[in-house]
Amino acid sequence: KKAIEIGILGLGTVGNGIIHILEHHKNELIAKTGAEDVTIRKVLVRDLEKQRGGNVEKEMMTTNAEDVLDDPNIDLVIEVMGGIDEAKQYIEKALKSGKHVVSANKDLIALHGDELLTLAEENDAELLYEASVAGGIPILRTLTEGLASDRITKMIGIVNGTTNYMLTKMTKEELSYDEALQQAKDLGFAESDPTADLEGLDAARKMVILARLGFSASVQLDEVYLKGMTEVTAEDIDFGQQLGYTLKLIGLASRSDEGIEVSVEPVFIPEDHPLASVNDEYNAVYVYGEAVGETMFYGPGAGSLPTATAVVSDVVSVIRQIRLGTAAAPMNAANKEDTVLKKEE
Ligand code: NAP
Ligand code: HSE
Repeated sequence: KKAIEIGILGLGTVGNGIIHILEHHKNELIAKTGAEDVTIRKVLVRDLEKQRGGNVEKEMMTTNAEDVLDDPNIDLVIEVMGGIDEAKQYIEKALKSGKHVVSANKDLIALHGDELLTLAEENDAELLYEASVAGGIPILRTLTEGLASDRITKMIGIVNGTTNYMLTKMTKEELSYDEALQQAKDLGFAESDPTADLEGLDAARKMVILARLGFSASVQLDEVYLKGMTEVTAEDIDFGQQLGYTLKLIGLASRSDEGIEVSVEPVFIPEDHPLASVNDEYNAVYVYGEAVGETMFYGPGAGSLPTATAVVSDVVSVIRQIRLGTAAAPMNAANKEDTVLKKEE
């Protein structure tokens, strides 16, 4: 197929970024995929009357998911609506009708990723989700392609933009917890309900996805040791600073002969450590591979355009597959033999 038509579920922070990139980088996308054209056919929203910036004509919007999922002209569905149950139902429907799916939804992938990936495989469809971890950093592709030859034993990540933004502002500008959270919301970093950001669940979901792909193992969310930043106070931050430490919400995934451990918790980092200088909404993932040694990946971890970049890069992969018949690298766990160890409180 030469002209590719896309349906989008959701037109919020990330959806608007996707529209921007598809419009402004159209020539790039056409050159990189060989497609004759890449167009958006329908966009699902909740509220047709909402004032929106950007360039989506009203006729293109719908509140009926079937207008996207049942449209035989749509090759590829982008899910950026968030949530679990409805998003899952829509993705399943899209995959069952052979449509490829790109999603930024870490909540869903952390919980039902294996099941959805199996469904995609059964229907000869792709399900890619690069944007679900660390926003604009192409970390999933790095694990599944760039470092595919290595045996990865450790990943340390600052993988939540909201909490890193808040900790930075509380540390450097002495903003209160609530002021810093409000800014993170206004800038589009926080989830619509920021509880998962603050309680560390969002970072835990991302660490689960990283551990699955990095270790080719079956890791579940309830196996993660989790402590968020809801109890962090300005006094804790001050105290650390006086001793030369910076407080960061750190995700750790490691594997040894005993098994795999995954955790998320606030950690005091020495000020001269590279992770201590990851500020604002930026994320970083340190990856240790037995052959490659130490590597570190850094970039914007949340926000409209950085996240949309990851989504649209997945779109490019899918279009290449549609055009050339070359499968994207599988984003699935293969070896389920490692034991996951549960760290006690
Ligand atoms: P958002 O700003 O809240 O946008 C959500 C969009 O989906 C809105 O347009 C909303 O419609 C629509 N929507 C939600 N539920 C719907 C439903 N049941 N039926 C129809 N439309 C529905 O969210 P976002 O920040 O763009 O995030 C979207 C997804 O990307 C989430 O899974 C999030 O975790 C993930 N993500 C976000 C970021 C980020 O930096 N924001 C980064 C990485 C991944 P209305 O506009 O009509 O309300
Ligand atoms: N709320 C998320 C964060 C968005 O702050 O990191 C990016 O996944």
